[in-house]
Amino acid sequence: MRLEDFWHPVALSQSIEPRSSAGTRLLDQELVVWRDNSGVAHVWEDRCPHRGMKLSFGFVRGDHIACLYHGWQYNSGGRCQYIPAHPALDVPKTIKVPVYPAHERHGMIWTTLSENPATMPEHDEMVVPLRSLYLGCAFDAAVAALNSVRLAPFASQAQAETTVSGVNDTLVAVSCGQDRILAGVQAISKTRTALHLSLSGPAERYLGAGQNHFNEWALRLRHAAEHARAAYATPDQDVA
Ligand code: FES
Repeated sequence: MRLEDFWHPVALSQSIEPRSSAGTRLLDQELVVWRDNSGVAHVWEDRCPHRGMKLSFGFVRGDHIACLYHGWQYNSGGRCQYIPAHPALDVPKTIKVPVYPAHERHGMIWTTLSENPATMPEHDEMVVPLRSLYLGCAFDAAVAALNSVRLAPFASQAQAETTVSGVNDTLVAVSCGQDRILAGVQAISKTRTALHLSLSGPAERYLGAGQNHFNEWALRLRHAAEHARAAYATPDQDVA
C-alpha cells in the first residue's frame, strides 16, 4: 500500500480545542484541522475557494468557518452558505471546500487522502496526551527512531525491556513494563514527519509527573531521528 492509502494522525485531540483551528500538511497537501463548538473535529483542504486564503487563518464560529479575507462562511459540510458582500445571494452549491474524513482514536485526530479508504478501526483506549514532535526526516526514519530509543518505566525501579510493535501502518506502540506509548506517524512530506504521542492509561497514573518523565524520552527520540538524518545526508541534501 502507498502512504496515500493510510489513515494518518494530523493532530493530538487536545491540541484542537472547540472553536479553534490549525493548519497542517499531509503528504504535501495543506489541511486545516478544526473543531466546532459542539466538539466535532473536521479536516478540510486548507484553501478558501474564493481567492485561496488559508482557512486555518479564519475564524471558527459555531459549526462553520469564516474566511479571514472576505468573510465567506463554510458550513460543517464544507459548503459556502454566506457571502458578506452579497448577503441576499443564494450561494451556488458548487462553492465547496474539499472535505476529508475525520475520526478520533487514541487521543489523536485521524484522516486519509485516499479516495477508497480502508475502514477506520473502531478500537480506542483511554490515553493521556504526551506531545507532538515535528521531525526533519522521512516517514521510515521516524519509525526507525522509535525502534532505537530505550524507554525507562515510570515510577518503578524494576528493569524492563523496551519493545516496539506496529499496531497498524501508522500507529506504533512502544512498551516498557506496564507503560505503553502510542505513536501516531504523520507523513507531512518526503522529508518531514510528525509523531503524535499518547500515553496508554488513566489520567490518575500519568498526568503531570508521568508526562514529564516520558517527555524526556520524546526529546531523546527527536535527537535520534534528527541525528540519523544528518548522518545519512549527502552534501546535496538540505539538513537545516
Ligand atoms: S479568499 Fe476567502 S473569502 Fe475571499
